[in-house]
Amino acid sequence: MKFDIALLPGDGVGAEVIEEGVKVLQEVGRRFRHDFEYHRGLVGGAAIDAKGVSLPEDVPALCKRCDAVLFGAVGGPKWDNPGASVRPEQAILGLRKALTLYANLRPVQVYPMLENATNLKPEAIRGVDLVIIRELTGGIYFGQPQKRWTSARGRQAVDTLRYSEKEIDRVVRTGFELARQRRKQLTSVDKANVLDSSRLWRQVTTELSAEYPDVRLEHVLVDTAAMRLIRDPRSFDVVVTENMFGDILTDEASVLGGSMGMMASASLGGATSALGNRRRSRRMGLYEPIHGSAPDIAGQNKANPIGMIRSVSLMLRYSCNLLKEADAVEAAVASALACGDRTADIAVKGERTLGTREMGDSIVRALAAAK
Ligand code: IPM
Ligand code: MG
Repeated sequence: MKFDIALLPGDGVGAEVIEEGVKVLQEVGRRFRHDFEYHRGLVGGAAIDAKGVSLPEDVPALCKRCDAVLFGAVGGPKWDNPGASVRPEQAILGLRKALTLYANLRPVQVYPMLENATNLKPEAIRGVDLVIIRELTGGIYFGQPQKRWTSARGRQAVDTLRYSEKEIDRVVRTGFELARQRRKQLTSVDKANVLDSSRLWRQVTTELSAEYPDVRLEHVLVDTAAMRLIRDPRSFDVVVTENMFGDILTDEASVLGGSMGMMASASLGGATSALGNRRRSRRMGLYEPIHGSAPDIAGQNKANPIGMIRSVSLMLRYSCNLLKEADAVEAAVASALACGDRTADIAVKGERTLGTREMGDSIVRALAAAK
């Protein structure tokens, strides 16, 4: 089959890791006889430098013509002036909105061979396998008014946390659908003891649960959820939550998996029913590692490409409906790790480390060698 893939490397290590993702995709194409055609676009600081805006107009249009988007990272000290009206981050926020990518899936798994890669106790994280679904196009990130002004009382600023029932319904449905394919447990995270938007969230979620009697639903307050993620992470299967809670909880959860560099994400639009289900169609999606542009190590061949490569696997699963291929990529990552291959972020003292390209090569070799 043929697929059109938009490639948006962005800034910092984004460009380095996306090349490793493409290498893996090429090997998938060779082994399984698919044809991936790439369409490159400029975003973030790179686009600010070239065109004066972080998300040039042609980029959302390019993405819409493609089957899926691979995204590197945006941002860096060069564009970090808090007073600037043009910021690299506007690229990813603008794309999420322009493509209506309302459900952001961030899986967290602990590979047995990386149990020692975090400073948490191995027995506390062993066997963790959860997915956080973060609402991505609403909430305090996008609510209006959002502004700063100066009054007689000095400088002031406001952000607005707004949700409509429809926005809650579609992302929570994605949660129920995914839970149904897994261990059938959905944790909805909110702050219903304080926020009205959370009380609406809880109400809509409870109403929806009538359509999913086979899924166990629990409501957990976000502060408790933050604690339970560290104390008892195995107690989660699928977690669904609003935009900013999800932003914070997924960085926290990434520690369980050894390193931010390991974490992949899928930002999905389209119909909730098409969730990697064999019989259903493909779903528009943007796939990116969650680590960001990491300016401190950019250009040094040090970044861990696994977050990007696992994002490629998510893309194969959700946007291309190539489930065998997605599994093969995951298996190749596990096999490279099992051979002892490590980038610096997941190596423990004394372990030999590989660069970005060498880690990518190792995963490509594992993929080529697999039966
Ligand atoms: C993320 C990032 C972004 C976000 C930034 C870069 C705008 O932190 O994808 O988690 O806050 O959504
Ligand atoms: Mg974040």
